[in-house]
Amino acid sequence: MIKGKYLRYACLVTAFVNAFGNLGLMLIYRPLFDLLGISVPIDLHYFYWMAGLSFTNGVLAYYIFDNPEENRTLLKVGIVGKGIFSLMTFYFCIFHGIHWFFLILGLWDVIFVLIFWIYLIQLQAPDLTRMNSGELLPGRGHISRKAMILYYSLTGTGAASVERIQKGLETTGYNVDTIQVRPVDKKLFHFPFDSVLSFISLTLLAILRRKARVEPLNLPSDHDYDLIIIESQTWFVGMSAIVEAIFQNENNRPFFQGRDAVAIIVCRGLWRRSQAMLMRHLEEFGSNVIGTQAYTHVGWEPSRLFSLAAYFIYGKTEQPVWLKWFLQPRCSLSDSSLDALEVYSKKLANR
Ligand SMILES: Cc1cc2nc3c(=O)[nH]c(=O)nc-3n(C[C@H](O)[C@H](O)[C@H](O)COP(=O)(O)O)c2cc1C
Repeated sequence: MIKGKYLRYACLVTAFVNAFGNLGLMLIYRPLFDLLGISVPIDLHYFYWMAGLSFTNGVLAYYIFDNPEENRTLLKVGIVGKGIFSLMTFYFCIFHGIHWFFLILGLWDVIFVLIFWIYLIQLQAPDLTRMNSGELLPGRGHISRKAMILYYSLTGTGAASVERIQKGLETTGYNVDTIQVRPVDKKLFHFPFDSVLSFISLTLLAILRRKARVEPLNLPSDHDYDLIIIESQTWFVGMSAIVEAIFQNENNRPFFQGRDAVAIIVCRGLWRRSQAMLMRHLEEFGSNVIGTQAYTHVGWEPSRLFSLAAYFIYGKTEQPVWLKWFLQPRCSLSDSSLDALEVYSKKLANR
């Protein structure tokens, strides 16, 4: 989690770079372009317009730095502005072979699209930022020391994390029940996949965000769990359809209403949207979300991504053998992440 103050100072950096960089460009573009071997623009006024607009982006970034809370909307404008600049740069770089100097400017803008985006999420959901750093928000009601964990796991990553949550809670005096959500279509939601076709079908369903049918959960409306933990994996930058199905059945609402809840996400690397979705569903069902955590697969990109794709195709890790040097030995959480999860659940139990 990048701290807010670093993101804020990053805005100051781009404010200076955009403003003074473009001023400098307008003043000394001729000797600079001669030095780098860039041909002088034919329509000079287009060049000055572009530099002026980019200078304005610097002014905008300064206002964000000056008062991030008040100027959240400017982050959105900055994302659009820098996004368009970088898209155009890459397009012209690929199809019209523009000079590498402009590619540097495009890359700079892409980096700041990401920085602005992360900062916007943090500013829009300060609670989320605090909870992701491990903080627990105040709970409601009496503590019965009984918890329910609801989850679904296709490849076993979520199941392993649920085991550690359960262990952490139980060693701290909790009674824990778990319910695994079960899809109706067992043939499709089954790993290793029966065929590449099943993998493609599941992928398409996830991309199109099609609802999944699940077996009835029969969650009681009257219960004495003081904590509900819900675990989901990411499927195409959102929560999985199987876990989401819980919130598509109004009969499940009373189980969550007024109860303390915690959202846990496991994924290869993209957790922000699935976490936000899960939290929103919990809140919409009347839960009091007191904490959330997200854990990503072991390894580095792009190896993690290729390892996962190969894992889905071959049904086991480190395949194909000739690519082993590039692939991760496992497509799941690291031991240290699982340890961290157990520590977190002890913290939940002692809240
Ligand atoms: C259809 C599908 C789509 C996925 N999409 C993403 C994704 O967009 N981002 C990501 O980080 N992980 C993605 N994953 C990876 C899973 O989130 C990850 O493997 C997770 O650990 C699986 O947990 P499980 O074994 O408990 O089901 C996807 C997995 C599947 C099967």
